[in-house]
Amino acid sequence: MSRRAFVAGNWKMNKGPLEADALAMELKRALIDASGVDVAVAPPFLSIPAVVARLSHGGIAVVGQDLHPEVSGAFTGAVSGEMLKQAGCSYVLVGHSERRSLFGDTDAVVARKLRAALRAGLKPILCVGETLAERDAGTAIAVVQAQLSAALGELDRDSMMTITIAYEPVWAIGTGRTASPDQAQEMHAQIRGWLSARFPREVPASVRIQYGGSVTASNASSLMSQPDIDGALVGGASLNAESFRAIVEAAASKPRLS
Ligand code: 13P
Repeated sequence: MSRRAFVAGNWKMNKGPLEADALAMELKRALIDASGVDVAVAPPFLSIPAVVARLSHGGIAVVGQDLHPEVSGAFTGAVSGEMLKQAGCSYVLVGHSERRSLFGDTDAVVARKLRAALRAGLKPILCVGETLAERDAGTAIAVVQAQLSAALGELDRDSMMTITIAYEPVWAIGTGRTASPDQAQEMHAQIRGWLSARFPREVPASVRIQYGGSVTASNASSLMSQPDIDGALVGGASLNAESFRAIVEAAASKPRLS
């Protein structure tokens, strides 16, 4: 079973509807020849309609950056998975480290959001990753495994087949300090091993594990050359069509693995 590379751009709180429309237009042009790789972008909520309108039928999927666990109700300021789906999203980020550290998303909240994404028919991109203190303390693997258990532990095979995992070490996000290809590969192999121990063989064989944290056009190829790195979740470099295109190209030229 081969895994198709998957590159997603997380625009975070950048690009209002007008700028998002312009960037989506540039991306559509820049990525017209991209093949053999799945590509997606995660604009801020308000910009989703503009991006969906530009990219529908363009082969670039749209991702929500977060969702509320409930379908609807008195949750001022929140957006549900059902709303994202209705607006044209096919994926949603769940448990991004900025949500965990700045907005108080605990493992329990992340687990509820992940189930809400599945309920809404969205494919979750579950983000996991350790802080620098945790890495220095030698607990990085245990921290990531605990995040995986809390979010995915109870899922059945069919739900698991819709999941993407993004390994984003917190110390590498927005810092310009990337995990080395070996460091990233080590954690990705651990994550795949965790999946192998709990789910039927097709789950670890097909679930894609993206790396995220200061991915750029210049380091993407060496990261993608690792056997368990199936793509990237790109922040800053996804705000520029040319650098995002170069990262997509690096992922597209990755040999398919079984
Ligand atoms: P940077 O690529 O800006 O480090 O951000 C990574 C990230 O958080 C993607 O979700």
